[in-house]
Amino acid sequence: MEKKFNRTLVTTALPYANGPVHIGHLAGVYVPADIYTRYLRLKGEDVIMVGGSDEHGVPITIKAKKEGITPQDVVDRYHKIIKDSFEELGISFDVYSRTTSDIHSKTASDFFRKLYEKGEFVEKTSMQLYDEKANQFLADRYVTGKCPHCGNERAYGDQCEACGTSLNATDLIDPRSAITGNRPVLRETKHWYLPLDKWEPALRKWILEEHKEWKPNVYGQCKSWLDLGLQPRAVSRDLDWGVPVPVEGADGKVLYVWFDAPIGYISNTKEILPDTWEDYWKKEDSRIIHFIGKDNIVFHCIVFPAMLMAEGSYQLPDNVPANEFLNLEGDKISTSRNWAVWLHEYLRDFPGKQDVLRYVLTANAPETKDNDFTWRDFQARNNNELVAIYGNFVNRAVVLTHKYYNGVVPACGALTDYDNATIAEFLAVKARIEAAIETFHFREALKEAMNLARIGNKYLADTEPWKLAKTDMARVDTIMNVALQIAANLAIAFEPFMPFSSKKLAGILNLPADLTWNDLGRFDLMPVGASVNKAELLFEKIEDDAIDAQMQRLERIKKENAVNNFTPAPVAANVPFDDFMKLDIRVGKVLECEKVPKADKLLKFKIDDGMGGRTIVSGIAKFYAPEDLIGKEVCFIANFEPRKLKGVESQGMILSAEDSDGRLVVIGPQGEVRPGVQVK
Ligand code: 2FM
Ligand code: ZN
Repeated sequence: MEKKFNRTLVTTALPYANGPVHIGHLAGVYVPADIYTRYLRLKGEDVIMVGGSDEHGVPITIKAKKEGITPQDVVDRYHKIIKDSFEELGISFDVYSRTTSDIHSKTASDFFRKLYEKGEFVEKTSMQLYDEKANQFLADRYVTGKCPHCGNERAYGDQCEACGTSLNATDLIDPRSAITGNRPVLRETKHWYLPLDKWEPALRKWILEEHKEWKPNVYGQCKSWLDLGLQPRAVSRDLDWGVPVPVEGADGKVLYVWFDAPIGYISNTKEILPDTWEDYWKKEDSRIIHFIGKDNIVFHCIVFPAMLMAEGSYQLPDNVPANEFLNLEGDKISTSRNWAVWLHEYLRDFPGKQDVLRYVLTANAPETKDNDFTWRDFQARNNNELVAIYGNFVNRAVVLTHKYYNGVVPACGALTDYDNATIAEFLAVKARIEAAIETFHFREALKEAMNLARIGNKYLADTEPWKLAKTDMARVDTIMNVALQIAANLAIAFEPFMPFSSKKLAGILNLPADLTWNDLGRFDLMPVGASVNKAELLFEKIEDDAIDAQMQRLERIKKENAVNNFTPAPVAANVPFDDFMKLDIRVGKVLECEKVPKADKLLKFKIDDGMGGRTIVSGIAKFYAPEDLIGKEVCFIANFEPRKLKGVESQGMILSAEDSDGRLVVIGPQGEVRPGVQVK
């Protein structure tokens, strides 16, 4: 039998306050959580959505060190940016707090102490990496080195971002301190471990048997973790930033950020509901839903539930609808490489267009696989869907009401079969939206909501009131009444997805403020004789120049990254001198140079090689105009097997250096030499 819930707690992953939030965060976590919460609220259910900034952890301390400020300065700066931008996007948190708050320190501290007193931790001393120059242990991201799994030279002490493996700092090959660059030494230190292995059977039963309905990506990841076998996990760190470990003999130690962060959900609930927070966390008729990205699955489905089981008085989450990742123009979003569309910058560049971003991120949400955000798709969805379908329908309904009725809602006469069929279709769509939202299929739900607008558009297109106005005004009355009812319904249907345009639409139609989701499907929302305000555009076309400006920004960042993040390719294996001598490299003078027809990349050279001349074709047309190189001396391989390129035989290869941004620069002698001399 379906379980009946009387209240819902929606939690959203706490973003690290070491940078602003970007579209990847939004698409993965905050927009879907907000849709879900708004929908439940609109249905009149008891729901609260909690969030906050994750202000502990090593990356924040590293950023502070780099900038010469305190970690508190870092989190103060970003917490404000994050909080304000969420608010402006209409992410309707009931509370958005932070893990440096007093209530959180106390809650996390008490939680640890309770587990400690119950004997739920194992105390272990182990050898950890220590930087003798900085006089500190090197937790997690303070160490970099070579990944033992994939060989990536820049793996971190907690994870290799190239292959995704989670690591211990001591696993790294040739570790280096991120503070001083020194090679760290091993030193003994004591930590508290949560024995996840103890909870493995209970976790297996809870997830693998009792939550088969979870999304396949979530269930699958949990199953592979469980099948690998769980190990005890350290829940403390040697660090001076975080919640101090609240027991004797723990000087200089703080709670591991992944121990305190999920407890933040509890602190946030307490902050907003000091008297009744336990109802949401501990009562059987409550449910908890964690909205997160896929990189957080293990912590929310395994580690945090094990902590809650160990504590003993809390409920476990009912669902964890984690999303995959959103890429940007084909590349992985990266805070450190600035490869992102930052929310606060979007809000600055596209004022008043919150709903467009909410729409595009939902329509293209990475629910089952990684997806790509592109600015062209953003523009197309705005212009071809929001403007052309939703906006266009509402505008026509309102404009025609003014044209024929001075903005007063006409009476509805007898409905035709076609009218009734339209209304029936409308109601069927409502049921599909509900089913989709309740199973966390927000893309699908939005698609269905757009179908409601399509129904409205089709209704006007099929009934053509502007033609009937000359002959049958009574029929026009009915058509326009139905069209206005549809428009009013759209304000309800779209509220969870695009609350700003719903508000605007409700204002145009003078809708009462207390409409709920249950009113969706009513065809008497616009009373006869009520007045409608003048039409205002719900959405505006986005022109090419706005999109071009964003594309240029990304191009610029790509170039900067190529320069800043350049690391020379590893040196290839040694070769004997004789092998080098097999290559006959010579200097030549460019006599002629021209483009090869129908080949964008190729230039054809006539080279004076001191031996009668030769033709060489080279793929550098993107970087040089033909006239740039005439008269210049270049180095070329003279004994390269001749080969045909676009029908031209190339008798050698011109040497060039490839810069970090992919630019090719031709190599030549620094002083004058005779064509045909050898390079050695
Ligand atoms: O991955 C992250 O950005 C983490 N700061 C998420 C924490 S979620 C929770 F447990 F607080
Ligand atoms: Zn790796």
